[in-house]
Amino acid sequence: MKVLGIESSCDETGVALYDTERGLLGHAVHTQVAMHEAYGGVVPELASRDHIRRLIPLLERVLDEARCTRRDIDAIAYTAGPGLAGALLVGASFAESLAMALGVPALPVHHLEGHLLSPLLADDAPAFPFIALLVSGGHTQLMRVTRVGAYQLLGESLDDAAGEAFDKTAKLLGLGYPGGPALAALADSGTPGRYKLPRPMLNSGDLSFSFSGLKTAVLTASRVRELSATDKADLAAEFQEAVTEVLAAKAVAACRQHRLSALVVAGGVGANRRLRQRMDEAMAKIGGRVFYPELDLCTDNGAMIAFCGAQRLLQGDAPASTQGAFVVRPRWPLDQLS
Ligand code: KG4
Ligand code: ZN
Repeated sequence: MKVLGIESSCDETGVALYDTERGLLGHAVHTQVAMHEAYGGVVPELASRDHIRRLIPLLERVLDEARCTRRDIDAIAYTAGPGLAGALLVGASFAESLAMALGVPALPVHHLEGHLLSPLLADDAPAFPFIALLVSGGHTQLMRVTRVGAYQLLGESLDDAAGEAFDKTAKLLGLGYPGGPALAALADSGTPGRYKLPRPMLNSGDLSFSFSGLKTAVLTASRVRELSATDKADLAAEFQEAVTEVLAAKAVAACRQHRLSALVVAGGVGANRRLRQRMDEAMAKIGGRVFYPELDLCTDNGAMIAFCGAQRLLQGDAPASTQGAFVVRPRWPLDQLS
């Protein structure tokens, strides 16, 4: 069975074709970073318009790569939320109309479920049950994953998501958009410890996170005096240490509490090198292991959506065919999947 995946929830257009027997046959992503850069962040209306322009060429590229035609598609999975309403509507209406034209089912998929299952696309995939740490631009959540479709929220950020904290702090340090990867690169050249930043909620005794105070602490440090290039690198390094220390400690705590040794780290911040290093070390200490998606599948992509739709179909619990009537859900908690 071949499932086409369509992702358009934010500033990446992703299309992929996943075959339940042969794996990923093709996948292509167009990132809008260059377009939004001038504005210092994602402009929703521009994002929607760009998704419209990209979807058909990306579909053609993926079908070529997969050596398939539209007629080979058995089902179409698309991101129905959470995300930007207009951007979601572009992907949803594209997927629904193509599905109607081809006479195949269309499956609305939860974006975070896609991220969460993305490590299962790798050759060396974890077995259920496992703990998942979702760290993206919009979410920081710890979940217990019992099987495809069964997700229990254990804790989440009370304010900024980890990626959001990276992005906002990067902006404060003059690194522009998108800040996460730029801040991480700067951090790698700095020395942590010269500045002292808090480790928010490290000892709170629960699995909640809070990252907005870190950004404020960086702002305060930057107001004391004009920051030199070295100061900025050292602040970035300390910021990265603070975020990754808290993320690693809480993820390990979740694994211990649930007596699970497999941890999945997914979402854009999962691409962070220091985070991976810390997670690997912390999990090794308790005899556990961390599973990551392939690096190019950490950030938004269509492959995770196609894979998620395929798993739902295989399990027989795919949502009933929408028959062209669809809704998108810009806000959609993962533990409220129906
Ligand atoms: O999962 P994703 O592509 O989109 C959302 O669903 O949000 O995640 C994007 C987030 C952004 O906040 C970006 O700055 C962050 O992931 N990010 C990183 C790195 N690469 C991407 N943050 C820290 N270090 C990185 N290497
Ligand atoms: Zn995402």
